[in-house]
Amino acid sequence: MAILPSTPHSSSWARAQMSHILLSSSSSSSSDHLGFSSKLSSLKMKKNIINKKKPNIRPTIRCASVLHFPKQPYQQSVITRDDHPTTSVVVKPKTTTTTTHQAQPPPAHWNLLQRAASMALDMVEGALISREHKHPLPKTADPRVQIAGNFSPVPEQQVRHSLPVTGTIPYCINGVYVRNGANPLFEPVAGHHFFDGDGMVHAVSINDGSASYACRFTETERLVQERELGRPVFPKAIGELHGHSGIARLLLFYARGLCGLVDHKHGTGVANAGLVYFNNRLLAMSEDDIPYQVRITPSGDLETVGRYNFDEQLSSTMIAHPKVDPVSGELFALCYDVVQKPYLKYFKFSSNGTKSPDVEIPLPVATMMHDFAITENFVVIPDHQVVFKLQEMITGGSPVIYDKNKKSRFGILSKNARDASNIIWVESPDTFCFHLWNAWEEPETDEVVVIGSCMTPPDSIFNECDESLQSVLSEIRLNLKTGESTRQSIIPASEQVNLEAGMVNRNKLGRKTQYAYLAIAEPWPKVSGFAKVDLSTGEVNKYYYGDRRYGGEPFFLPRDPNSEKEDDGYILTFVHDERTWKSELQIVNAMNLELEASVKLPSRVPYGFHGTFVDSKELANQA
Ligand SMILES: [Fe+2]
Repeated sequence: MAILPSTPHSSSWARAQMSHILLSSSSSSSSDHLGFSSKLSSLKMKKNIINKKKPNIRPTIRCASVLHFPKQPYQQSVITRDDHPTTSVVVKPKTTTTTTHQAQPPPAHWNLLQRAASMALDMVEGALISREHKHPLPKTADPRVQIAGNFSPVPEQQVRHSLPVTGTIPYCINGVYVRNGANPLFEPVAGHHFFDGDGMVHAVSINDGSASYACRFTETERLVQERELGRPVFPKAIGELHGHSGIARLLLFYARGLCGLVDHKHGTGVANAGLVYFNNRLLAMSEDDIPYQVRITPSGDLETVGRYNFDEQLSSTMIAHPKVDPVSGELFALCYDVVQKPYLKYFKFSSNGTKSPDVEIPLPVATMMHDFAITENFVVIPDHQVVFKLQEMITGGSPVIYDKNKKSRFGILSKNARDASNIIWVESPDTFCFHLWNAWEEPETDEVVVIGSCMTPPDSIFNECDESLQSVLSEIRLNLKTGESTRQSIIPASEQVNLEAGMVNRNKLGRKTQYAYLAIAEPWPKVSGFAKVDLSTGEVNKYYYGDRRYGGEPFFLPRDPNSEKEDDGYILTFVHDERTWKSELQIVNAMNLELEASVKLPSRVPYGFHGTFVDSKELANQA
């Protein structure tokens, strides 16, 4: 999931897809411009990168909503190295400023013109940053807020085995729990939103009651290039792309591309939001790029294989919340575009990875769509009131807008549709769901039931507002015959808490479920525990981590896929103690909410986004 500082939701919801704006020339060789002959091939990724034939990625700009034009001097956060004395950075507010950007010599393959161009563009950027520092940053783009405390990044951690365990890890658990998160490699030089950080995967391998841990950056194209340059150069979709300053940063990036100083043609995504294990591959995803394959090694370590375009079948970005049908094994996904039509496409993959043709979904405006749902026969598409209007940047505003005049609605489309002619739209007034936890069909009433967390006010996600945010677990009933809908809170008002980030038993995804396990996102944006909610009765059982201990998405792991009891399984979640600065993995019995085991982790695990579990039997067939 993605619980973030100053904003709700989970992961990269509003990460605007940059590439569209960035460079419409992305299909051509930027290095040919201005007579430069860049040799960015040296920046290629690891040996297994999928580069036989680069996919024709058409990135989209994910405008980051939360971006506000700075209005007061910005003092850089201090990056220290408390967690580990070697590599990465940790932000600690209110200390003296140090820089972690290592002065790097220009890459050896740059020619004289490129070096001169780089110096000139650096000067322009310096002037831009100086100007930005004269204005305040909103909380939603201020790194001192966004990556403070345990939202701050950590260095990579090589695998550590035989970790201390309190209690007993159930012997039925064998495999690897992996969780994605944002972890900026470099100290931000200007605006930064938590969602902007580079993707890092944390992995706890469990084998016969013993546990090991490792965390690794996902080696995205942008991370590799920025590491070589020694500083961040790719625009941050949420923290920077706002108003005139955002336009200037896009132009700077465009100019660097023209000069062959950066290569944007193979994606600009950070792969920090979601994880899915599909067709023998672990995929790290953010909605502004195609997935990256990450391999779990036999020792429990992680290594990036490279961008994965499903054997050259995927030519567009992909949502970070694809759905695997537990019965058919198919993977369902969306792609949204914020610049040009079609604004939305639906596609699926068979269980062996064969992609269906794209189905273009007609939308009147480009709409932010972080998540969706499946039922046994349908995909459920939320077309809500948060839309992209890039022209707002020209007038100094955020490109993500809450459009009060737009009607919120859900689209119900057959999973096997070849076009959108039979899609059924059902309006659901003033509904904004960032995540949808499940959906199912109730043929007896001609309804599709959707379970999601409804946020109000919707624009509080994207802009600072005085009104406190609410995230209400809701049941939305969509009548496919009458076209009418109802929406009601599942939990009684007396017990209302903000619930975000979580799931149902994924072996029952798309079918009627009794329980959902959701993060108690209070005090927002921290997670003080999780709730097991009976979706039919509204009964809530809460599990709290304790004083100054916070977690994230509760991951439900079924004990036995064939168990008749839906809640027969365990909740896995990272918990961080803000008093001791220590992190652990907790394993909680989902039936009685009793702690079964706690794995002491060798290093801090920042609050993050979504995770998954890869069973040891699945790992045996990993590609
Ligand atoms: Fe998410």
